Amino acid sequence: MKRAILLSLCALLIVLSLGCQHGSRSIKRLDPAIEAQIDSLLARMTLEEKAGQMSQKSRLGEDGSGDIETEIREGRIGSFLNLQDVKARNKLQRIAVEESRLGIPLIFGLDVIHGQRTVFPVPLGEAASWDLDLMEKTAAVSAREARAMGIDWTFSPMVDIARDPRWGRIVEGAGEDPYLGSLIARAKVRGYQGRDLAAPDTIAACLKHYAVYGASQAGRDYHTTEVPMRIVRDVYLPPFQAGVEEGAATLMSGFNDLNGIPTSGHSFLLTDVLRGQWGFDGFVVSDWRSVKQMIPHGFAEDQAHAAALGASAGVDMEMVSRTYLDHLPDLVRRRVVLRQVLDTAVRRILHVKYRLGLFDNPYVNENLQEAVLLAPAHRDLARQAVRESLVLLKNQNNLLPLSRDLKSVALIGPLAQARRDLIGTWAPAAEDGDVVTLLDGLKKALGETCRVHYAKGCQTEGDSTDGFAEALEAAGRSELIILAVGESESHNGEAHSRTELGLPGPQLQLVREIHKIGKPVVMVLFAGRPLTINWEMEHIPAILLAWHPGIEGGNGIADVLLGDYNPAGKITVTFPRSVGQIPIYYNEKNTGRPIREEDRFTSKYIDSPNTPLLPFGYGLSYTTFEYGNLKVETPNVEIPGTVKVSADITNTGGRAGHEVVQLYVRDLVGSVTRPVKELKGFERIYLEPGQTKTVRFEIPTDALRFWDINMEFNVEPGDFHIWIGPHSAEGLQGHFRLTN
Ligand code: GLC
Repeated sequence: MKRAILLSLCALLIVLSLGCQHGSRSIKRLDPAIEAQIDSLLARMTLEEKAGQMSQKSRLGEDGSGDIETEIREGRIGSFLNLQDVKARNKLQRIAVEESRLGIPLIFGLDVIHGQRTVFPVPLGEAASWDLDLMEKTAAVSAREARAMGIDWTFSPMVDIARDPRWGRIVEGAGEDPYLGSLIARAKVRGYQGRDLAAPDTIAACLKHYAVYGASQAGRDYHTTEVPMRIVRDVYLPPFQAGVEEGAATLMSGFNDLNGIPTSGHSFLLTDVLRGQWGFDGFVVSDWRSVKQMIPHGFAEDQAHAAALGASAGVDMEMVSRTYLDHLPDLVRRRVVLRQVLDTAVRRILHVKYRLGLFDNPYVNENLQEAVLLAPAHRDLARQAVRESLVLLKNQNNLLPLSRDLKSVALIGPLAQARRDLIGTWAPAAEDGDVVTLLDGLKKALGETCRVHYAKGCQTEGDSTDGFAEALEAAGRSELIILAVGESESHNGEAHSRTELGLPGPQLQLVREIHKIGKPVVMVLFAGRPLTINWEMEHIPAILLAWHPGIEGGNGIADVLLGDYNPAGKITVTFPRSVGQIPIYYNEKNTGRPIREEDRFTSKYIDSPNTPLLPFGYGLSYTTFEYGNLKVETPNVEIPGTVKVSADITNTGGRAGHEVVQLYVRDLVGSVTRPVKELKGFERIYLEPGQTKTVRFEIPTDALRFWDINMEFNVEPGDFHIWIGPHSAEGLQGHFRLTN
């Protein structure tokens, strides 16, 4: 009981602090008529109905007894997730609107993570395009298709920074960099929400998982996260803040405990930072039962305590578990939780429902989806997204693109005819039949003049080599071999952490056997994370990283293999040589003993280089680019000011192509130690053969702020290095100085 009283005091403090901030950081007022309607509803709602609005039920969740329709009629459900039948959706909505006491509409949510029916590359793959306009467009198409299927709200974008590829969910995010991750978060929010949430082709976005879930210890999902608050601020929070600034309607709290406090009960993050400092005016939904899971965390004594902790900390809606519904009314009556806590949460939820137009148009036109799902323009966009997401990791002697004079090609590997594996994780509305497999795409692209001999070779699991003979036979009949290997869809995503990061199953054995034949070999690598493909990088002449490319995978990959599209993708997460190097990321600290080969007593391993297999920002092209003429136009800049720097990039090869020009800085001396490099700009340019373009960057000194020794967000005077180059491990170096 002691904790409960303490709790109500801290709830009171939270509410008072919010109250006094209401003037400056109030929930964005809708038009007065709507505000009046919300006030009127709140005044009439019982505590049970308020707890109902704060409760989300899943079609899949077995939590709670009682018939769904009865619960809706009684106002005990405010939201639904995982329902993908527009008729069923309208039926439940009709009960809520026409049969419940107050007629408050439900909000329907789903994980629309990388497409709805038109499935795009997984987010880590799409991020490799560095094409923000493309990523906004794919989000907009996802929204259009989802809304037509009766979904009002997606639990996306996942903006967790991840530096550990053992973590299966690294596939769902934009990689390791806060600057790029922040820009992608903005693009996704814009794409999903458009200009008007009430439009029939927009949906509410949800920034998740707030926060620091990507730092799960040892890459093991749901594990503890222990991260100094300065790193939380500098690395993990920026994409959330960017998404909030872009107007995201909702956030989702996480499963993880951050420095001892579960993020679904973390009032500093959920109220002080999110509301108090960033002025977020939407609502926060918990993750799946993450409120109730504060009990096994050892943070809540029981469900009533979990409900009080979650609601008072700032989780407005509980996903699937029922602690709010079962306990909040009583907790308010016993004055353990303030009534104001519920009123604030319900107001936030009703705000989003109004902004979505659910009060005026609660039902979805059931004929809309016919014309919207898989529209030709959506498929075209999906194919373009595949092309731009592919990363050329190696191309010895320009083996790629394939010659159109080939008469026979062997396509070998367990992913050559894969469908669900090309779709990838988190695609609840995807249909296998929509997928263009690599075999299909290749046959179509190669046409009648080239025979394609297909053999599966092996599975992505187990150790059977039974299929090797057939594969070797197919290879024997072919001029060139294309391998389709990598991770299957079930190797990635939630609850799919791995301790080894090589090709799963007997695939590497198959690759080595094929390599022994001595014919040209191209490897198409499907993956949802960095893999430790050391042997492959050393022995296979050409490697194209295809991620899990979505339904247009076969076509997009064939376009690149045959040179109809010149690849320009660049990885947004470091590829380690071994699991032993993890965590490894480009924006590391220098240490007091930076590695010197000749000096044993410096920061290094005795059995491995420090460098990764592939650095952040790496990716090749079928042409070559030369960087020259770096100019630091402002060698001395007063704070506040703008650093101006440029470089010339020339296409020195024989093909036109895109190049993602990257700009990095290093703050040489700070009141705290600073990273050896930080991405602070990039531009995706297109150059014809022989063409030179001057790329100019203007970096406001504000962009060089960090959380300093006093935990204040400042930019400090001093010397900086600056690089413009093709990736984080290479570039033309310059220098500038900031002065106060
Ligand atoms: C899952 C995931 C979360 C997802 C939610 C609803 O457990 O952690 O990302 O949005 O449940 O499916």
